[in-house]
Amino acid sequence: MTARVTYRRRGSYGIDAPYGPALIAVVFVAELALAIISGRVLNFLAALFVLAILGLYLHATLRGKFLLWAKLLDDLGLRGDERILDMGCGRGAVLLLAAQYLTTGRAVGVDLWRSVDQSGNSAEATRRNAVAEGVADRVELHTADMMSLPFPDDDFDLVVSSLAIHNISRRAGREKAIDEAVRVLRPGGRLMIADVRGTRQYEGRLVQIGMRDVSRRRLGWRFWTPLPIVTATKPERQMRDGSINR
Ligand SMILES: C[S@@+](CC[C@H](N)C(=O)[O-])C[C@H]1O[C@@H](n2cnc3c(N)ncnc32)[C@H](O)[C@@H]1O
Repeated sequence: MTARVTYRRRGSYGIDAPYGPALIAVVFVAELALAIISGRVLNFLAALFVLAILGLYLHATLRGKFLLWAKLLDDLGLRGDERILDMGCGRGAVLLLAAQYLTTGRAVGVDLWRSVDQSGNSAEATRRNAVAEGVADRVELHTADMMSLPFPDDDFDLVVSSLAIHNISRRAGREKAIDEAVRVLRPGGRLMIADVRGTRQYEGRLVQIGMRDVSRRRLGWRFWTPLPIVTATKPERQMRDGSINR
């Protein structure tokens, strides 16, 4: 097994859904102005509350999600020779953490690089981060839609996705992304999806298409909400003679 990996980062990973915190900041300024003009304690408390929400959001996106994923990846006991896919990798928060566990393996990221979903999002920014983290030799990036992955069946040992699938607006599209994740996973391979919403749907779909050990749980308060995660394993293939094909 590879050495324990730290969540501390050298790269620059942007802010998730940057219009959200920008809007919260505007509300804070408005509340503060109102409090100063009115001199009312209640308005000051309201401004403080909004500031706390903003702080929690920034903590989650700049630090909390790295802490969560470092622990999740640590617990997997990776050997180092795995092929890992990150669907909607963005600037590489999870992709590059995962790459640190690899020696001969590969961490493959797929994204459409939408800056509405993450500030400064681009393949180039992710490449720079891979160099900064010292894992560029183990990382591959593809510009592709996670509803139509450019990989053969059974290609990956582990598929992860962080805060990405909910960005697909249609339910059928999110299901397609789940189906694609399962298609490219090898029998016996593992799937981990953390997302701010939609995880009940992912869980239901995974059960429906026959994934094994499907479970949904919450990851605690390192994120601005106790972030739900869905995990599952792809069943081994049963051969006609009853043997298991790994
Ligand atoms: C909030 S960011 C999260 C990025 C990264 N996983 C992380 O945790 O930092 C969501 C990402 O999903 C990507 N994305 C959204 N829809 C996508 C799609 N249909 N196919 C591939 N990537 C997509 C966005 O471009 C963005 O990089």
